[in-house]
Amino acid sequence: MRVAAFTDLTGPDGVSILDRPTPEPGPGEAVVDVEAASINRHDLWILEGADTRYDDDDLPFVSGLDLAGEVRSVGDGVTGVSPGDRVVLCPNQTCGACQFCYEGPENLCESFTLFHGGLAEAALVDASRLVTLPENVSMTHAAALPTAYMTAYHMLRRADVGPTDLVFVPGATGGVGVASIQLAGVLGAETVGTSSSQAKLDRMEDIGLDHAIHSTDPDEIESAVRDVGTPDAVLNHLGGEYTQLGLGVLRRGGRMVVCGGTAGRYSEVDVPGLFLKHKQLIGSTMGTQPDLETLVDLVADGSLVPEIDEIYPLEETGAAFEAMQNRDSVGKLVVTT
Ligand SMILES: NC(=O)c1ccc[n+]([C@@H]2O[C@H](COP(=O)([O-])OP(=O)(O)OC[C@H]3O[C@@H](n4cnc5c(N)ncnc54)[C@H](OP(=O)(O)O)[C@@H]3O)[C@@H](O)[C@H]2O)c1
Ligand SMILES: [Zn+2]
Repeated sequence: MRVAAFTDLTGPDGVSILDRPTPEPGPGEAVVDVEAASINRHDLWILEGADTRYDDDDLPFVSGLDLAGEVRSVGDGVTGVSPGDRVVLCPNQTCGACQFCYEGPENLCESFTLFHGGLAEAALVDASRLVTLPENVSMTHAAALPTAYMTAYHMLRRADVGPTDLVFVPGATGGVGVASIQLAGVLGAETVGTSSSQAKLDRMEDIGLDHAIHSTDPDEIESAVRDVGTPDAVLNHLGGEYTQLGLGVLRRGGRMVVCGGTAGRYSEVDVPGLFLKHKQLIGSTMGTQPDLETLVDLVADGSLVPEIDEIYPLEETGAAFEAMQNRDSVGKLVVTT
């Protein structure tokens, strides 16, 4: 089988197509013939050498958290799925033995890690992490869901967002950003979001963004958000200076959920502004497998159409990463085999 492997951690040029033996499933495992995989900034950081957990000793490295396809074979003891089933993978990997695995939510697992290996024609996975797909959910839509949409959905749950809420999403145009806007809309909330690109914001109108702010200047963004209203929740995947910006505009008692630090690993926080107004700052990573099942249901019943910017053949995986690096895209970038 072919894989799109990282062979140099130098950016998009470091992706190569290699031949690998097709895996065989062991007990509790399944092999999935991957039809579609989507990329995330997490993969890009590994590819750029910016994630210190990965180095040249890990090469060649097959990344890709999000995959959908058809089950090719299953190992001993697998009862949940059978060869021929259409499935999407929940990339969560948990120990099954800690307090959080017993009591939930599973994404708090003390040994929480993520699956990698979707950028390939076949993937060896934990069969219990496969969610079956109804016929009317396409493989490309399913592959868009796991990381971006599951994370955004879990953040909306942590922020307790409901109808009548105003949700602020700095950086509304990427994987998590677009997912946040669409899913806030599904919950009946109103949205305000930002981008450095007016062309991308023009596309966001059709995707459901209610109020677009074309700026990267914190003061300008703050005043534009205030013109719209006082957000009940902020979904923050940018970190850096966007954390204080989001906290500043949040209503008394409002909630900011943070899942990423694209714009900066460290943020300065006005501490009295946080406690005097009872604001909540909440960290969140990924979501739960039931979150992913809910998302599949939302796609199946037509409430959610995952936004896909472009679909690339496996051999052009490097070009997909280049589009992400250049901030060219709106929504998800999908690779098909
Ligand atoms: N904790 C978790 O479980 C989890 C899960 C998923 C994602 N994440 C994190 O969430 C973040 C987003 O991931 P993603 O896959 O959605 O990425 P993505 O698709 O590449 O996100 C693109 C978005 O980020 C904005 N952006 C990119 N670089 C920026 C910069 N230097 N300053 C300000 N804005 C910038 C873009 O704004 P423009 O429109 O202006 O280009 C666009 O809105 C990443 O930090 C990722 O690691 C965390
Ligand atoms: Zn655990």
